[in-house]
Amino acid sequence: MRQVVLPALGTFTVWREAARALAGAGIPAEEVSFTRDATPGLLGQEHSLPPPQRQLRVPRAFLDLAEAVSCHRDGTAHDRLYALLLRLQNAPGLLGDRADPLVDGVQRMEKAVRRDIHKMHAFLRFSALPPGEGGRLRFAAWFEPQHFITERAVPFFAERHREMDFLIATPEMTALWQGERLTFGPPSPRPDLPADGAEALWHTYFVSIFNPARLKVKAMTAEMPRRYWKNLPETSLIPGMIADAPRRAAQMRAALPTIPPAHAVRLAAARRPPPPETYGELPLSETSGTLPLPETPDLKTPGELPPLAEARRQAAVCTRCDLCHHATQTVFGEGPADAELMIVGEQPGDQEDLAGRPFVGPAGRLFDRLAEEVGLSRERAWITNAVKHFKFLPRGKRRLHQRPNGGEIMACRWWLDIERARLRPKLIIGMGATAAEALTGNGKGLTQRRGKLERDTMGAPLLLTWHPSYLLRVPEPQARLAAEREFRSDLVTALDFLRDVA
Ligand code: URA
Repeated sequence: MRQVVLPALGTFTVWREAARALAGAGIPAEEVSFTRDATPGLLGQEHSLPPPQRQLRVPRAFLDLAEAVSCHRDGTAHDRLYALLLRLQNAPGLLGDRADPLVDGVQRMEKAVRRDIHKMHAFLRFSALPPGEGGRLRFAAWFEPQHFITERAVPFFAERHREMDFLIATPEMTALWQGERLTFGPPSPRPDLPADGAEALWHTYFVSIFNPARLKVKAMTAEMPRRYWKNLPETSLIPGMIADAPRRAAQMRAALPTIPPAHAVRLAAARRPPPPETYGELPLSETSGTLPLPETPDLKTPGELPPLAEARRQAAVCTRCDLCHHATQTVFGEGPADAELMIVGEQPGDQEDLAGRPFVGPAGRLFDRLAEEVGLSRERAWITNAVKHFKFLPRGKRRLHQRPNGGEIMACRWWLDIERARLRPKLIIGMGATAAEALTGNGKGLTQRRGKLERDTMGAPLLLTWHPSYLLRVPEPQARLAAEREFRSDLVTALDFLRDVA
């Protein structure tokens, strides 16, 4: 029996030379045994090989297959390759025969190695080290592959990150890319890598692509097997996200819009007063999308504006924009007519559209909870929306919320202006970018603007804050809690302001 010991580095090249010589000398597979050098030394051993007696012919596909299989952890991998090499001499089409147990076994090994290389490319995470000479960026990573793939997999990283230096350590060997030169050395124990800012980025990315309603633990662990988890910064979040998924999926289901049942549509129609020809001097538009009315009511003579109850009646048959044709009903503001505080949201959602009242769905319930936590009761405020009809996109039986556009916001400003002019609140809280746009003409930069007092287009004190629907959508629990804290703190600012001006 001939023993060939293959080195840890250059394994395939040494196997190929030895196999070529042995097969060329007609040595049968039963008389050869290949073993991988288990010691950390990388040089392997010298072998005395017989001089070749005949030329070998193998298809190109075999060499690609053999190069991959040579990385397989199974101790019989190289023996099997040698047996296949011999059989190919008499049966050149053998690789196409999946029913052959040897071909099938070797092809499975190839698949396992390719998959392992893919996982290393996908799941290896670099940690930043202090910059090296000349300020060159330096990184290091630890990875535990299943097979002996380090030598084959690392050039991918060198290609991608030519401009930085890096060290990749595995239990098999270390690879160093420095000054655009790749060298390999013996393995080292797992290094203590510093946590850096990239970990936070991985967390954010991972949380934002996680959809609790689509959670399939089996599929997830197939794509990202558990054995890789311990070296991935983002996976520390997985157990928490899986545990929280049913709650978040239920929350998403509760927030799903529905097509209103037929009786709701009939009831809403019956509640609507018959449309009069005109309201005072303001003809109602029969056509949608155009604005025959002045953009704002005559605010210089607020006494001539309809009282709130009348405005509600008029708004019920509003056709100032297209949205009236699809929504179930107008959702006008509600609350005490002498409220000192006015709260403005975006537009009614699915449940508000059916109920005919603002903020009674999931966003409203969250608002009520957070307001109650700081001692604000919604009964003391006039609650309304910038746009009074639900805008949605039908999707099967669902109605998907759509943000109102500038024209729709402008058209509905008519009613918001009447509400503001009639109430003359001491403070307005605008929730979200649409409310900000309707109240100030500028819907941008809520992050910078929230929590501070500004003035609306009528000169009323205005405090902008997050929209409760946004709070419901923040995926990452810590970020959600932080946004809720900001929302509560903005409500406290509002309460303090009202106390000061009382
Ligand atoms: N979102 C809003 O902006 N208003 C509502 O009334 C409900 C949800």
